Order: sequence, then C-alpha cells, then structure tokens
Amino acid sequence: MALAMARESRLPANEAGARSGIVYASQEAHMSMPKAVALLGIGRGNLRLIAVDEALRMRVDALEAAIAADRAAGRTPIAIVATTGTVNTGAVDPLPEIADVAARENLWLHVDGAYGGLVALAAPEKFRGLDRADSLSLDAHKWLYQPAECGCLLHRHPDIARQTFSHSGDYVRSFREDPAESFAFFDESMELSRRFRALKLWLSLQYHGRRAFRAAIRRDLDNALALARAVEARPELELLAPVTLSAVCFRHRTKDNAAILKRMATRGRVYLSNATIGGQFALRACFVNHRTSDDDVEAIVPEVIAAAEEVNA
Ligand SMILES: Cc1ncc(COP(=O)(O)O)c(C=O)c1O
Repeated sequence: MALAMARESRLPANEAGARSGIVYASQEAHMSMPKAVALLGIGRGNLRLIAVDEALRMRVDALEAAIAADRAAGRTPIAIVATTGTVNTGAVDPLPEIADVAARENLWLHVDGAYGGLVALAAPEKFRGLDRADSLSLDAHKWLYQPAECGCLLHRHPDIARQTFSHSGDYVRSFREDPAESFAFFDESMELSRRFRALKLWLSLQYHGRRAFRAAIRRDLDNALALARAVEARPELELLAPVTLSAVCFRHRTKDNAAILKRMATRGRVYLSNATIGGQFALRACFVNHRTSDDDVEAIVPEVIAAAEEVNA
C-alpha cells in the first residue's frame, strides 16, 4: 500500500502513461519488497538493491549514486525504502541521512519497521529520523506479541491514500455532508471487507498498558545482548553481525552449521532459524516472545555446543 501511494504521489495514474518508477531499498531488505513492486507492475527490474556497509546498513553514498545514475538515464525515482530492523540481523538503516536524500530528491520515504519499528516504544534513540518518514509499516504480530496477523501501515498522506485507493468518492460524498467525512475507510486502503484486526491489539494495550509492552521489549533486547555475550565467550563460536535489536547471528567456526541447526531441531530444546550473511550460513536466534526466560537464553550456547559435538567435522 505504501509503494502504491508513493507511485501515485510521484506518477499519478491519470497523468502518466507508463508508471514504472524506480524504488530503492538495501540488499538486506525483506522479500516483501520485490513482491510488492512485482504486484504493482513497477517490476522487479526497477527495484534497486543498494549495497550495505559492514554493519549491513544501507550505504547512503551508494544510494545517491544509484539515484543519480537513474536520473541520468531518464528514469523516474519514486521511493526509498529504509528498513528499521532487517529480517536477518536487525540492522537499522541510517534514517537521518536517508531522509535527507529523500527530501533533496523529492522521493517518498517508506520505513519498513515490520520487525523492528515497534522497538521505538522502548528504545527511541535507535530510530532517530523515523519522524521524517512518509509511511511506516509495523507488525504487531511480531514485536507487540499479538497472534498473527496484525500488520499496520501508518502514513501522513490521507489525500494521497484516497487518490490511490478511492474509486467511490463521488458515490460516498453524495450522502455525507461534512467533506472531511466524505470518504469511507475502504477509500483509504486496499481492502474492502476486512476483519477487525485492531481489536486484539487495542484490548491487550488497554489490559496490560504500554509500560508492560515497553518492559517486555526491553527484556527481548537484553536477552539478545546476553546471548551475544555468551557466544563471544566461546572461542569456537563467532558473531556474524552486530546485535542492534533482538536478532543474533552467529556460527561455529569449524563445524557444518547447517548440520548443527538440524541436530538442534532434533534435540528439541532450542529452536533456531538461519540466515546467510556475507555468503556464510548463520545460526540465528531472534527474541520476540515475552515469555522467554533467562533459562531459555542460557540454554542456547550449551545446546549449540552439544549439537556441534554430535556433528562430524
Ligand atoms: C523487515 C520485514 N519486513 C516485512 C516483513 C513481512 O511481514 P509479514 O509477513 O507480516 O507480511 C518481515 C517479516 O519477517 C520483516 O522482517
């Protein structure tokens, strides 16, 4: 929805013929970006995946160079997607600098905070520049502990939302007197009939209060730091990426890490996922559960070591 609005704002449907503008995201962006540009007809070939720095954040110099190259070739840049919490490692793209580029180049700035954006409740200092986004996606089913699914898009452009999604304005306007109320909810977003997804989130916020959510998010962040320390304390293990939020990517230096992962799943005590970082297979722990205990965190490294011992070289 955000990219549909971005395109509508830069290449309005009733003016443009072909509407394939260019979208920029980092090489670490989520696969939902290629999916979105494909579904919108922007085309995967018009999604530029910008190189990342050693901490796996979008490189702003590479972003600027890509925009300049596209303009020089006569193409129309429309949007930058910054990620605040990449799916693999939790890297947070440099928002203030990216927002400067977006402002200078007159591009829509979407922030993909699906995994990490809600940490701004507990650690706002990690997200300077977030207030400059045109749109922000958040998944309450990830880091607000809701049952799937409870995705959310915040944006500051109701006019563009209506221009993008409303094909009934005249019909609705005809029976509403206040112009501010002349649009229905389905005029401002993609879906028509929909479930009341917000109810569960609203109820749990009312019941537990924001303070409980902040505390739980802080515990998840602390769990990740505790695991990172435990990994660093073992010479046979190494971290493969800085720990910014709650994803911890690491590997055994000498054993087959894919085999370790399978072995751990069979052992049944700790379930890790995996990622590929710099071409290396990483074991990945990601803390987004308010019930994870210190014992759970402390069990991880011994389980990795025990599984590694059961795996041949
Ligand atoms: C950074 C990021 N963006 C987008 C998504 C997609 O979220 P959903 O599966 O809720 O559509 C994810 C899911 O892992 C994610 O981590």
